[in-house]
Amino acid sequence: MDSTAASVTPAVYGESDRPPRGDYSRGGTVLADYTCPQDWASYTAADHDTYRRLYERQAAQLPGLACDAFIAALPSLGVKDRIPHFDEINERLYKATRWEVVAVPGLIPEVPFFTLLANRKFPVTDWIRTPEEFDYIVEPDVFHDLFGHVPMLFDPAFADYVQRYGQGGLKAHAQEACEKLARLYWYTVEFGLIRQPEGLRAYGAGILSSVGELRHAVQSAAPLRLPLDLPRAMRTRYKIDSYQSTYFVIESFAQLFDLTAPDFTPLYQMLAAQSDIEAGAKLPGESSA
Ligand code: PHE
Ligand code: FE
Repeated sequence: MDSTAASVTPAVYGESDRPPRGDYSRGGTVLADYTCPQDWASYTAADHDTYRRLYERQAAQLPGLACDAFIAALPSLGVKDRIPHFDEINERLYKATRWEVVAVPGLIPEVPFFTLLANRKFPVTDWIRTPEEFDYIVEPDVFHDLFGHVPMLFDPAFADYVQRYGQGGLKAHAQEACEKLARLYWYTVEFGLIRQPEGLRAYGAGILSSVGELRHAVQSAAPLRLPLDLPRAMRTRYKIDSYQSTYFVIESFAQLFDLTAPDFTPLYQMLAAQSDIEAGAKLPGESSA
């Protein structure tokens, strides 16, 4: 790893204008690729307890709501009664799909984010929420990033999709299409649903790490659920401070991988002339799954 310390100007990924909470000025090391050491020793007993309680509550409600790939891989995170050392997870993750997790102090800018993904390195926020944020948090913390995202990276097809998303992100950045592509990340990696033989299940990390949204996303009659269609998803705005009102459904991770194989350049050109669609809005002819 490059050990040049960078002077980091926090920037925000996505549609939010909140500054990242990660402490970029704590005197700790932030490296040129925006990663940092995990500093496991600085977690308090209360931090470990928050993680343990979040894990326990969320693991209990997975059956029937989380997809099979997630449930199968969750034990690979190892410990559940404290915040894991990222190194211990990496021993298993690297063997499974050649992915690794790396610590970051909070949300990082687009280009370093895409670069990490393109190199099969998944950025995991190193701090944990406060007890007041136990039920809902609007920015990623270590529980969301580890529990929500990392089990899915044990699935080979999904893992390949995320790497290709990172490569696509660098390309979208050059074409000023990041806002469109970020929506695809939102509606797949963060809030994606998959159809299994027994019914709909969640594979998106924002759903899987949320106590309330998991049931809402999979079972509530309120939200709109549409088959994943790239232009439709990329035009659809999203909310960061409430449950989603639109979800997109895939049939398999292979489908997701294949759907995103083509060059997006013509798609971005087409989308530049089209209007956004509000979260939850239904277009004529659409019906919910
Ligand atoms: N195929 C996309 C492009 O050419 C890249 C991409 C792959 C984007 C996977 C998202 C997900 O830009
Ligand atoms: Fe996330």
